[in-house]
Amino acid sequence: MKTVLIAGGSGLIGKKLNQILSKKGYKVYTLTRNAKHRGQIYWNPAQQTIEGKHLDKVNIIINLTGENIGEKRWTSERKKALQESRSKTTQFLHSLVANIPNLEYYISASGINCYEQDKKIHVESDPYGTDFLAKLVKEWEAVSDLFQSNCKVAKLRISMVLSKRGGALDKMLLPVKLGLGSPIGTGTQMMPWIHIEDLCNLFVHAIENQITGTFNAVANCDTNHDFMKALAKAVNRPFFMPKVPAFLIKLMLGEMSVLVLDGTNASNEKIKNTGFVFQHDNIETTLASLLKNGKD
Ligand SMILES: NC(=O)c1ccc[n+]([C@@H]2O[C@H](COP(=O)([O-])OP(=O)(O)OC[C@H]3O[C@@H](n4cnc5c(N)ncnc54)[C@H](OP(=O)(O)O)[C@@H]3O)[C@@H](O)[C@H]2O)c1
Repeated sequence: MKTVLIAGGSGLIGKKLNQILSKKGYKVYTLTRNAKHRGQIYWNPAQQTIEGKHLDKVNIIINLTGENIGEKRWTSERKKALQESRSKTTQFLHSLVANIPNLEYYISASGINCYEQDKKIHVESDPYGTDFLAKLVKEWEAVSDLFQSNCKVAKLRISMVLSKRGGALDKMLLPVKLGLGSPIGTGTQMMPWIHIEDLCNLFVHAIENQITGTFNAVANCDTNHDFMKALAKAVNRPFFMPKVPAFLIKLMLGEMSVLVLDGTNASNEKIKNTGFVFQHDNIETTLASLLKNGKD
């Protein structure tokens, strides 16, 4: 069985992916700045340091590193950290390829917020947008393509990951649980999403089929209104509060408010055409299963 190295494997996606790959028989190592357990390899990309062990066994690299986009306000310092923790980290990883002689395949996380903010259903060949996130993704994907001279490369443009164990859902749940469920802004903006289990299976599908290029990792897109309504229903709370005005969100979050106020609509036809089947593509049943009895 192949050996997989997950950079940023200690995060929300990486932990789950590690479990799924290990269960399937892959040997999994993770790269982390806080190595404590077996299977974890210490690195610090900002200082360009890495503990070299096991790299010679690695066949597949999955890169999930990056400072969390929705964690803090986007000051200019934070924006630099968001960019550098992706692009510079990937560059550092690429500088190590001579030590990874058995590398066959490189898969990078990427972001669905890479398109122009408009009403179009975006496909992977559409041009990049021009806002901060789109520029960040463009640079991140370009650096990921450095690996093309060494192995096959795939980039998964990940949408909002739905998991019971953290991420965006956790943040949206608090007001809803308090009975304050309501649409945000106009409520008509589209929210692309994917269940964490589908996303991890998508990484496995990529490995098993060695797909290359960019793919929208999106199970479905719902309006913010429908998403918030399904969320309230899943936790048996009311959904009758007035819309949260956009100016309030902008005041609270600054430029980061685009994450909730601007919508993206994206097609998943390309990944489906490679044979991938989503298990969760209905927002009501997905949220209900995650929040009522879900373990993900
Ligand atoms: N979750 C989502 O909804 C979503 C949506 C779209 C795209 N993505 C992308 O998918 C990737 C994984 O997402 P996730 O939700 O699993 O993220 P996460 O839970 O925040 O984990 C990210 C990982 O990146 C590493 N990291 C953070 N800052 C770093 C830095 N400055 N230098 C090196 N490593 C750093 C951390 O590893 P250590 O602290 O152990 O070193 C952490 O485990 C991210 O790039 C994210 O942008 C996620």
